[in-house]
Amino acid sequence: MCGIVGYVGSQPALDVVIDGLSRLEYRGYDSAGTAVSADGKLTVTKRAGKLANLREALAGADHSDTGRSGIGHTRWATHGPPNDRNAHPHTDCTGAVAVVHNGIIENFAALRLELEGRGHELSSDTDTEAVAHLLEEEVAKGASLADAMRRVCLRLEGAFTLVAVYSGEPDLVVGARRNSPLVVGVGAGENFLASDVAAFIAHTRDAIELGQDQVVELRRSGVTVTGFDGKPADVKEYHVDWDVSAAEKGGHDYFMLKEIAEQPRAVAETLLGRIGADGRLSLDEMRLTDDELRDIDKIIIVACGTAYHAGLIAKYAIEHWTQLPCEVELASEFRYRDPILTRSTLVIAISQSGETMDTLMAVRHAREQRASVLGICNVNGSTIPRECDGVLYTHAGPEIAVASTKAFLTQLIAVYLIALYLAQVRGTKWGDEVFAMIQLLGTMPQKVEQVLETVEPVRDLARSLAGERCVLFLGRHVGFPVALEGALKLKELAYMHAEGFAAGELKHGPIALIEQDLPVVVIVPSRARPVLHDKIVSNIQEIRARGARTIVIAEEGDEAVAPYADTLIRVPAVPTLLQPLVATVPLQVFACELATARGHDVDQPRNLAKSVTVE
Ligand code: M6R
Repeated sequence: MCGIVGYVGSQPALDVVIDGLSRLEYRGYDSAGTAVSADGKLTVTKRAGKLANLREALAGADHSDTGRSGIGHTRWATHGPPNDRNAHPHTDCTGAVAVVHNGIIENFAALRLELEGRGHELSSDTDTEAVAHLLEEEVAKGASLADAMRRVCLRLEGAFTLVAVYSGEPDLVVGARRNSPLVVGVGAGENFLASDVAAFIAHTRDAIELGQDQVVELRRSGVTVTGFDGKPADVKEYHVDWDVSAAEKGGHDYFMLKEIAEQPRAVAETLLGRIGADGRLSLDEMRLTDDELRDIDKIIIVACGTAYHAGLIAKYAIEHWTQLPCEVELASEFRYRDPILTRSTLVIAISQSGETMDTLMAVRHAREQRASVLGICNVNGSTIPRECDGVLYTHAGPEIAVASTKAFLTQLIAVYLIALYLAQVRGTKWGDEVFAMIQLLGTMPQKVEQVLETVEPVRDLARSLAGERCVLFLGRHVGFPVALEGALKLKELAYMHAEGFAAGELKHGPIALIEQDLPVVVIVPSRARPVLHDKIVSNIQEIRARGARTIVIAEEGDEAVAPYADTLIRVPAVPTLLQPLVATVPLQVFACELATARGHDVDQPRNLAKSVTVE
């Protein structure tokens, strides 16, 4: 959370920084601010609210456009309410140092007291401001900004990315990171710092990953990286394999709509190149050997939010195809319950961003307990895959809307691939069975496309329900996590009460919620599992008898449900385990349309941020 940009080069820094922030606004939009260095002084401008407010302030202000170095920030508030005063950048007593920050400085209260004791006047409620004053003290002693940053970082506890400018060194931007993302963009005669490559992709696709506890000095002429101890650090350079068009709306009103539409391609990309010349599934990038995978006796999946729902679906596939016991745990709960991990436990961490702090902490805990950890991530080079023993990347492309859509579908593909690979190496499925399932997975892009082509009635339905107070979602088997995901989407986008239930659990309490005309979405399992299917048909009748308005998602050709559906949404018939790939899509469209009808910005729902880098 919080997006950070730094720039040194020959272009007007303010333009580059604002453009970068516009691509990082998904990380937080409580306030935004910039600091530009020119003519031996810093010009700081900041405003509460979205970036548009800052743009407006800059348009009317007498700010210098001559500065060629600067920093910017878009905030997701942690310490202090989202107002102008708490917006970043924060400055020291003299206005010579400005700093932006992502993360939480846990010992800020003690530092603040100490600074106030030495006569500093702090004007915000943030943890960040202490850093500006600590840097002030170091540069006053004669330290360069980079040395000051290294010394200050050694005093900080918690997670932080810091980026600072100092009027005394106008052609320099200094960044530091611990447990929080920061990447370097390497251009020709210009260099960039950002929380995410999206901020500088319009200028360069050459990037450098920064390691833990490193400080970077950014000048026009180049980039220097050291540890907090000042020793030169090894860095990893890489080339970003997508371009600026992937980070733009491409004619859609919202990124979320674009990302929903991109799902067939994202699924296809994630499946690409997985079959070897011998017809066997091959996951070369995974880094774990077949011997290591044969030794596993238990799998634990850790993830948050939508990624957790992908994990819940994975459990059904893994246990069915591999006969390995699989637990799924909210990453935020995992390390607090003393999970039983051994060297033969495989922990799978699922995270779109690869930066979610709860998931990262679960990964670290699992590795400390000597378990093998495999990441499923979308963002190349992010922290979680770097700290895992192995990784399977999803190839969804950048996901910018806060609500996860294409990342979810590609996470499902990744877990299906891992489950099938485990089945292959452990011999719990015959080669031809694995191959047949991979062939079926190969048809999924087209099935998802089919859903998208027929989804217009879902939009009409969503608009007609915009005035409702509550929607319930029911499912069985893999349909249960789909119900949870449908409810999560509606909560986060439409700010409506929405809950997902296992249909069989309804009569143990939640059925009391059913009242006349309450909309209830039911995900009906494939008829290929008659036991599941017939049970849910009975559940639909039970809620309808109590007045519910039933919105039924069922496969083509399933006529048994038709008499009990007030609205029937058809999805292509696919094997039971793969049904989430098609059944989730109408629910994404439903939430997006309903939220839009209620007047909400679906890309930036209130109180949220795309990447949750605090616990
Ligand atoms: O980046 P991650 O996949 O680790 O993010 C996990 C959750 O924060 C995320 O899925 C969140 O629940 C989404 N906003 C849901 O749409």
